[in-house]
Amino acid sequence: MVDPGTAARVAFPNAKVNLGLQVRHRREDGFHALDSLFLPIPWCDTLEVATPGTGDGCTLHLHGLPVAGAPEDNLICRAHALLAERHALPPVDFHLIKALPSGAGLGGGSADGAFALTLLNSLFDLGHSIKELEELAAQLGSDCPFFVRNVPARVTGRGEHVDPIDLHLKGWHIALINPGIHISTADAFGWIRPHDDRPGLDAWTGSGPEEWSSGLANDFTAPAVDRHPAIGAALNVLREKGATFADMSGSGSTVFGFFRAPLPQNWADALPSECRTWTGQFPD
Ligand code: C5P
Repeated sequence: MVDPGTAARVAFPNAKVNLGLQVRHRREDGFHALDSLFLPIPWCDTLEVATPGTGDGCTLHLHGLPVAGAPEDNLICRAHALLAERHALPPVDFHLIKALPSGAGLGGGSADGAFALTLLNSLFDLGHSIKELEELAAQLGSDCPFFVRNVPARVTGRGEHVDPIDLHLKGWHIALINPGIHISTADAFGWIRPHDDRPGLDAWTGSGPEEWSSGLANDFTAPAVDRHPAIGAALNVLREKGATFADMSGSGSTVFGFFRAPLPQNWADALPSECRTWTGQFPD
């Protein structure tokens, strides 16, 4: 047993953005076959685990932005339950400080679930391999396996096939705008007509923002912009500020842009007050 004092107790579940997202066909299980490039972004929640916990199994304390649903249905508790079926775990308390907006296309809830798995695996020395953790994560949600390795990856299938890729991002700046609109992923799939009579995204691995503007696209963007003009307005802000490439992430509503130069400090001042923003730079 690892000394709990030396194992990780705090994790920072981060966002992702989708660079291109194809909904290729509806599968027999009702889910859709996807093709997308996923990029981790260090806009993070904070997740702490404390043991022994105050309850019988998993107790989740929520802070920060509101989180829909009962705590026991949260992917963090469901991650704990998956591991508790396989191991005798002591009671734990999780404290989640929610900073990532929900229903935002950033994968925030999925990241919380996947990080809970990896945190418990290391804290209690459960010995699950990356592959086993990805398989467990797939039981939590389609986006969860990606967050186990949490590196740029081409993601296919329902979300369970995660192949790490190189992207050319050195020195690029990225800005995100969440326009404060909650989009249900299940609803968004109803807006799409899947089709796979087109090349997949393999040609885009090893690429960078300058190439993406020649045709990397997210199938959800047009229907989301049709229904929510504020998403189109946020995309226009990024383009007016000089984005080399801008698109929506996942099923929305967050949009992102890649920039050669840093944005001025006041770049977001004119945005509506319900917008949340985040900026960062990829190291040289
Ligand atoms: O897997 P997850 O719980 O995140 O999926 C939420 C909803 O999104 C599913 O119930 C399904 O309606 C839809 N979905 C899909 N195909 C995928 C992923 C999600 O149809 N590959």
